[in-house]
Amino acid sequence: MTPTLEAVGLRRAYRVPAARPWRRTTRAALDGVDLALAPGRSLALVGESGAGKSTLLRMLLGLERPDDGSVRFRGAPVTPDAPGRLRQEVGVVVQDAGSSLDPRCSVRASLREPLECLDGWADVDHDARALELMAAVGLDPATVDRRPGQFSGGQRQRIALARALIANPSVLVVDEPFSAVDPATRARLVTLLRSLVERSGIQVLLVTHDLGVADRLCDDVVVLAHGRVAEAGPIDEVFARPASAAAADLLGAVGRLPARR
Ligand SMILES: Nc1ncnc2c1ncn2[C@@H]1O[C@H](COP(=O)(O)OP(=O)(O)O)[C@@H](O)[C@H]1O
Ligand SMILES: [Mg+2]
Repeated sequence: MTPTLEAVGLRRAYRVPAARPWRRTTRAALDGVDLALAPGRSLALVGESGAGKSTLLRMLLGLERPDDGSVRFRGAPVTPDAPGRLRQEVGVVVQDAGSSLDPRCSVRASLREPLECLDGWADVDHDARALELMAAVGLDPATVDRRPGQFSGGQRQRIALARALIANPSVLVVDEPFSAVDPATRARLVTLLRSLVERSGIQVLLVTHDLGVADRLCDDVVVLAHGRVAEAGPIDEVFARPASAAAADLLGAVGRLPARR
């Protein structure tokens, strides 16, 4: 079966500041990465800080061109010039999304904006859709005209999630969604996301270093280390019997295996 989203042989190097600037020094952020989001499944992308997770996401979303390799969404090539169906069908919660909401805009305006840009929403009542999503993420629809500053960090995270979901995506990409919130808020957000996944059948591509969260939300895992895939497979198997040092290290850093579902 064709993967929903697939990367083959991605390479990307960035210039690094050098002691002798006339010498061009680059470092590979991605060094030949393959990844597949299998149909009907959710995927966790894990790896220590600097492993290349966010870089890989930018390539997967067609926001940046790889030096080499290719990305396909439902079998069709994705490039920054021609993202194809990906723009319509993929909702994105960027890293630290809560604080990336425009502080001057009401939640209503932030939620309506994607509907105004995307095809197929012209005949839909944008305000009604905004209120519907407020309720879906557990926020009081009566607060829709407040600005982001009037919400807590956890609530802003919910607003970012509502915005990513507003155009009814088939895939939800989330980069480190729970790193800036306290453990109780994180637990509530994970429960919310899990119930959304169960109800809507949306596929999640989750970037995280929290293996417990990955285990609760995802079926498969890709372990990234130094810009390469150290290990990939069903999350139960990788967590039970890590075959790579990178996966074992991540599990060791947690101190114990994450609680089973
Ligand atoms: N735009 C960029 N310019 C220069 N270096 C970058 C850029 N983006 C990422 N890098 C480098 O690539 C490596 C991987 O970064 P990143 O993808 O952000 O890792 P992660 O998200 O796993 O923490 C790091 O060494 C980082 O400094
Ligand atoms: Mg990152």
